[in-house]
Parts: sequence; C-alpha cells; structure tokens
Amino acid sequence: MANHDTEKKLITFRVKRFDPDGGERKRYTQEYKIEVMKGQSVLDCLNEIRWKQDGSLTFRRSCKSGICGSCAMTINGVNRLACETQVLALGSSTITVEPLKGFAVIKDLAVDIDPMVEKLLAVKPYLITKTPPPSDAERIQSPAERARLDGLYECILCGACTSSCPSFWADERYLGPHAFLKAYRFIADSRDDAPGEHLDALDDKHGLWRCHTIFNCVEACPKSLNPTKAIEALRRELVKEKIG
Ligand code: FES
Repeated sequence: MANHDTEKKLITFRVKRFDPDGGERKRYTQEYKIEVMKGQSVLDCLNEIRWKQDGSLTFRRSCKSGICGSCAMTINGVNRLACETQVLALGSSTITVEPLKGFAVIKDLAVDIDPMVEKLLAVKPYLITKTPPPSDAERIQSPAERARLDGLYECILCGACTSSCPSFWADERYLGPHAFLKAYRFIADSRDDAPGEHLDALDDKHGLWRCHTIFNCVEACPKSLNPTKAIEALRRELVKEKIG
C-alpha cells in the first residue's frame, strides 16, 4: 500500500526575481521544479532550490519556527510566512512566490524593511514609566491586566499586514498596521504611564486617520491578530487624549 506521508509530488515554483545588477533583465520570473512531500514548507523548498539548483536565489529566513518574521513573502497571492506554509496544503502544483508588495526590493524575495522599522520606532514601542520601580519587586500586573495584552504582544513584525494594506500602497509614509498594533500593545499595558507619547506620531495624515477599515491586515496576519481592532481602540484613545 502506498504511504501517502512519504509520497512525493512534482511542484513548480514560479519565483519573481529581481537582480539590481541585471541591466535590462532586472526583473523576471524563474521556474524551478522540485519533488515535495507532505510536511515540507515553502521555506524548505526555497532552501532546497538555493542549495541544489541555484545559489543566487536570495531570500530572508532565520528561526524556521514562525517567530522571527523574516521569511514573510507573497505565496500564491497571499502574504504568508514561508516557514509555516505547507506546500502540499496549498493544493496547487504551481506555487508563485513574490516579495512583499509595497516594499523596495533589494534582491529577489528580500525587501528593504528599514522604513517599516523607522515607522515602528515613531510610536515608541517600549514601556514608558514615570515612577520608580518598586524596590523589592517587579512592576506587577493582575491576571486581568495581563490578559488585555493578548492579541497584541504576539506580533512578530513580519510586515505581512502593512504590505497588504492599500493605504500603504497609496502613501509610502503611512505608518501602517504593524506600528498601530505595537503602539496599542503599550498603551493597553497597565504599567505604561505615557499613552500620549505613543499616540503623538499617530495623529497625522499619514497616521491613524488614513486607515479605511479594509481589513486586509487582519486577513494577512500569520498570527491571526487584529490590527484593525487596535486601530479603532487607538482612535478612541486619541479622542480621549484630545478632549482631556
Ligand atoms: S524563518 Fe522566522 S518566521 Fe519564518
């Protein structure tokens, strides 16, 4: 009897490539064929292509565990983490792999995430306290206060949400859902004493008000987080801040 777990299927990978030194052939699509078995991720296959077929293929990856966020890319038209995407589960014999939309491409699937990091820093993505810490203890939270951070702290900053957002495609200075979610993660933290400092960068034509509640970011998040909900909460916080 055939063992379906070890059976291999021939899959074609159509990779959108970009070579900054390629002259007239800077952008092109290249096909690779490899045999894939159940359990193999897109990242496994890209590694195999790079190691056995084409050492020039460039992409980011690190943890291979859905933690570092570096392997985010567009796979069959959807932003996903390559290391968490099982090839055969996609149900297609052809897999299209592209760099994240909206970001400048450095080479092949590697995009420039510096602007994304700058926007993140604008919302001061860290705990701001105005009182000295207790001398004999950490800053304590109740279980209920800690639970308010669920759905916020899990963001791995992969960029899948921001890359899927039409407001970002139209305005490269738009802060983006990744920055909003992170801002709210600290505003919602009972230990943070300075919500206004996180909000400062958001009340701007490139900030909160440019979100048109399209929900692409919610669909794109590989961690099933909800940046749109955080944006609504931030708008309420901003109004509260403004009217004192
Ligand atoms: S390699 Fe770290 S999230 Fe995929």
